[in-house]
Amino acid sequence: ILKALAPQDLAGRKILVTLGPTREFWDPVRFWSNPSTGRMGAAVATAAWLRGAQVHVVQGPCPAWLPPGIQVDSVTSAQEMYERSLSLWPSMDMACLTAAVCDFRPHNQRQQKFKKEAGEQGLDIAFAPNPDILQTLGSRKTPQQRLIGFAAETSDAIQSIAEEKLRRKQLDLILANRIDRTDAGFASATNHVVAVDAHGRHEQWPLMDKGDIAWRIWDWIL
Ligand code: CTP
Ligand code: CA
Repeated sequence: ILKALAPQDLAGRKILVTLGPTREFWDPVRFWSNPSTGRMGAAVATAAWLRGAQVHVVQGPCPAWLPPGIQVDSVTSAQEMYERSLSLWPSMDMACLTAAVCDFRPHNQRQQKFKKEAGEQGLDIAFAPNPDILQTLGSRKTPQQRLIGFAAETSDAIQSIAEEKLRRKQLDLILANRIDRTDAGFASATNHVVAVDAHGRHEQWPLMDKGDIAWRIWDWIL
């Protein structure tokens, strides 16, 4: 019923959405991750689907609910999310990358469980950098494709950081949000974002439900 009532202004568009955290395993029972629940990404994907788009989600480990009409690929690590997203990108019209991708992974992944006795004096773990999915998609973007990213920040200089990420990753639109507040960021129902686009337009949006933010993102892109 909701889909029948929604404007079908994204009909015929193929849209990629990444969402949730990634997990970077260090041994078979231990991993490095973050508190992302996939809520913002599920809202973005659902809004696009309601408006008629063909939506493909690449989802890290999280319990996000998505309507059955959306195609979902489940992945675990940043490397898996990178490979899946890159292979989908050439057939997509747009992508919105909301995932909280781990920037680093343990340098060596152990096959056997690490025994605590071996770390009695403390434990140092070496990390290696993960590839930046958004930046790679940006570097391979055609003039017809549209690319949207997020920026998760804990600083007051949120707009200038967003502008720098928009340029570096060759985005059309970026939504920057604070992740050190209880009414925005990880797991919350609402979010407080600054939107900056490639034409230099920027807006501070009021505290809004994540579903309303998702709707407004697609309005802006259209
Ligand atoms: N992102 C990505 N792949 C990564 C890291 C980030 O696709 N390896 C995407 C996120 O999905 C988000 C955007 O890049 O859309 C910004 O992520 P963020 O963590 O804010 O920025 P980083 O570029 O990773 O920089 P930093 O964490 O140092 O602020
Ligand atoms: Ca990051």
